[in-house]
Amino acid sequence: TYDLPEWLITMYPQAYDDVQQCMAQGEEGYILRALPAGNGDTTNSYIASNSATPATSTSHSSSTSNINSNSNSNRNSNASESSSISSPIEPNSTSNTTSHVARLIILAPSPAGLLYGAFHLLRHLGTGQPLDQLTAISRPANRLRMIDHWDNADGSIERGYAGQSFLYENNAFTRDWDRLHDYARLLASAGFNALSINNVNVHATETLFITDAFLPDVAEVANILRKYAIRLYVSVNFAAPIEAGGLSTADPLDEAVRRWWQEAVADVYRYVPDFGGFVVKADSENRPGPFTYGRDHADGANMLAVALEPYGGGVIWRCFVYNCKQDWRDRTTDRARAAYDHFQPLDGKFAHNVMLQIKNGPLDFQVREPVSPLFGAMKQTHQLLEFQITQEYTGQQRHLCYLVPQWKEILDFDTAVGDRFAPVKQIANGSIWQREWNGIAAVGNTGIDGNWTGHLLAQANWYGLGRLAWEPDLSAEEIAREWATLVFGQDAQVVDMIISMLMDSLPIYENYTSPLGVGWMVNPNHHYGPNVDGYEYSPWGTYHYADHAGIGVDRTIATGTGYTAQYEPVNRDRYDSLESCPDELLLFFHHVPYTHVLHSGKTVIQHIYDTHFQGAEQAARLCQRWQTLEGRMAPGLHTQVAARLAEQAEHAKEWRDVINSYFQRKSGIADVHGRVIY
Ligand code: GCU
Repeated sequence: TYDLPEWLITMYPQAYDDVQQCMAQGEEGYILRALPAGNGDTTNSYIASNSATPATSTSHSSSTSNINSNSNSNRNSNASESSSISSPIEPNSTSNTTSHVARLIILAPSPAGLLYGAFHLLRHLGTGQPLDQLTAISRPANRLRMIDHWDNADGSIERGYAGQSFLYENNAFTRDWDRLHDYARLLASAGFNALSINNVNVHATETLFITDAFLPDVAEVANILRKYAIRLYVSVNFAAPIEAGGLSTADPLDEAVRRWWQEAVADVYRYVPDFGGFVVKADSENRPGPFTYGRDHADGANMLAVALEPYGGGVIWRCFVYNCKQDWRDRTTDRARAAYDHFQPLDGKFAHNVMLQIKNGPLDFQVREPVSPLFGAMKQTHQLLEFQITQEYTGQQRHLCYLVPQWKEILDFDTAVGDRFAPVKQIANGSIWQREWNGIAAVGNTGIDGNWTGHLLAQANWYGLGRLAWEPDLSAEEIAREWATLVFGQDAQVVDMIISMLMDSLPIYENYTSPLGVGWMVNPNHHYGPNVDGYEYSPWGTYHYADHAGIGVDRTIATGTGYTAQYEPVNRDRYDSLESCPDELLLFFHHVPYTHVLHSGKTVIQHIYDTHFQGAEQAARLCQRWQTLEGRMAPGLHTQVAARLAEQAEHAKEWRDVINSYFQRKSGIADVHGRVIY
């Protein structure tokens, strides 16, 4: 039923089919095609989707070559001549193109789709792929592809490792709109479409973000984000009716409280008509929540959902809820159980515009954790997968740690829910139960630093999350190659070395830090550097229970906390049994003697020694590997990475020595290779 002009059909015979296909891609999808010359291309019409602004010829004319030798395209034609359906973009002369490409078509059902199509084209050119092979049909796997900022109004960033915030300083917005504009473009280029702009721990100033005091600034942020098809979200304080509204309660069933939220939401939408919604951390780590009033999390979330519903907004309610006042002697309370225990019984009770945001693991973004058993356990509830790009526990952007392989493993993990193949990626994207609200959110790792992420190579994590959220089946290597080529150019030696360093980095980090899935062993509060007993006697519930006889947390059904029973039978049985539990998670699920023999054939204690010696050596080798690239990139880029790698190598030795000494002393068992342990 599409009425396409004759000239277009002549030039682009598959236009009808493509338009049909394109409409089927959903709002954010697109089709890209390189059309060969000689298809009756006698027009100079420009092609754009619906209301989208067509690419103007002038912006391309200076960089075009005689690539359209066979075309009589008039590069000076102006945008007003545009057709309303598609737009040819003239390729750059420096790209690796062939002369028989006459037109590039980007077809999309919406401006957002056109934008993503344009970034696809840039990626294609930037990675040096030939234009004549350009043909792509794409749509995002996940509806929501979101970055969560943990920025505070005072300019600090909770768990931020790339300088201060570019959003705020001195309890006000920086109003650095140019920087924000660059950032919005960056977000869209990696495929993100949602942004939460403030810390989940909402302090006094940020509590007022949803009031007239700050809404003009919030609206300006939304205006900039909107240009790049990004929806704005704000983290809210559950106690805002008290702290901002002067009420005496924040009880979600209290009429005055409900009215307060409804009025607050109406105000927000007056400023930001396409506002995305609220992110909420409630009853967690001393934040206020519905428990104070004897209500449950469905009561709390639904109250906000009702307020947002008329405007199409949603509630992103975090499941990071646990008792942070535990006594280490109490072996029955298990922090790992908490999210499931709190939320699973509420399945079916949440409003349809509530999404539960679930951290990838049951604890807190450790280098190795099992997948949270909550994925798949709530069949009637919208679920959002939460990752952490900022490297809180994985080297704080001073160590190289490419997290995409870890995220891939999580996305591909088979929850086996309903006795069938049910990988986490299908739960996150909602396809398993045809859920409408779904996606992936991740804590960002950017700050005011010139390279955005502190460690230049940590950009690969940020970029990788966006690409994976769009297309979870991309491989970690493919993403690394794309990123490295876009940033460093097409020098094969540089790109291949960077890919191999990125791909090795997570196992290296895991080698010299906490062993066999047990986690933590970091300095309290700031979480950088080794401290085996740093959290061992604290109330946070993050224990390894090491003593002279053994180590690990017994989470089995028969003798432990019973956490394993939260998984579907196939995973439950695999983790519950010492025989079948995978080595890399052994100490997460079992308490064993140091002499326990792993599937690898080594004892636990020897594994600890070997991996720590090996990890420190590998970290030192990273410096040497990077050294081979000197002179092959801008010196500034080379030196900043070299400095971080040197720090990592030094710090890896500290990790090695602290961990090895601790366990040699505790166990009284010597290293079979007789290496130096202090
Ligand atoms: C971790 C982190 C906190 C953060 C919390 C959260 O515990 O250390 O800084 O607030 O996660 O996800 O809410």
